[in-house]
Amino acid sequence: MASDDELKTGENAESKTPLNRRDFFNEIAGCALAIAGIGAAVVTVEYSSPNVLFEPPTTFRAGSSDDYPVDSVTYIQDQQVYIVRTEKGLWAMSAVCTHLGCITQWKPESNQIACPCHGSKFRRDGNVQAGPAPRPLPHFSVRLAADGALVVDKLETVKETEILKV
Ligand code: FES
Repeated sequence: MASDDELKTGENAESKTPLNRRDFFNEIAGCALAIAGIGAAVVTVEYSSPNVLFEPPTTFRAGSSDDYPVDSVTYIQDQQVYIVRTEKGLWAMSAVCTHLGCITQWKPESNQIACPCHGSKFRRDGNVQAGPAPRPLPHFSVRLAADGALVVDKLETVKETEILKV
């Protein structure tokens, strides 16, 4: 039962008990052990998780050739690739500028692929029209899968003359 003084101040007998030296060091040791335990747990979790670099697959399905009308340039944003179709056929081409790696943009009004960074311009076949880009946009292998889907392999570059007849 609390005394009248304790009730007035809102304190009880336990809170008035001074912390003795042994309890103080026990509290410190407990805190230090808890911190060390948390640190060890974090390091263990990091160590046991795989140290792998996840990269998107380099081969992707680009839909059907019917998705690309004749005389079109289509940008596939998540792959940074253009699918270009003409009356001769179809090809896949990188959208990454060969100067310093900016992502180019198809400009239908000027019939060019333009780089917003330093002004390089490319024809729809990837050849450089205006520098500073030193090389054409590379073409990637594109083939038809058994189900008729286009499959582009960004690891396999091909000559610009290799056009998929569709
Ligand atoms: S990165 Fe394209 S022109 Fe410089």
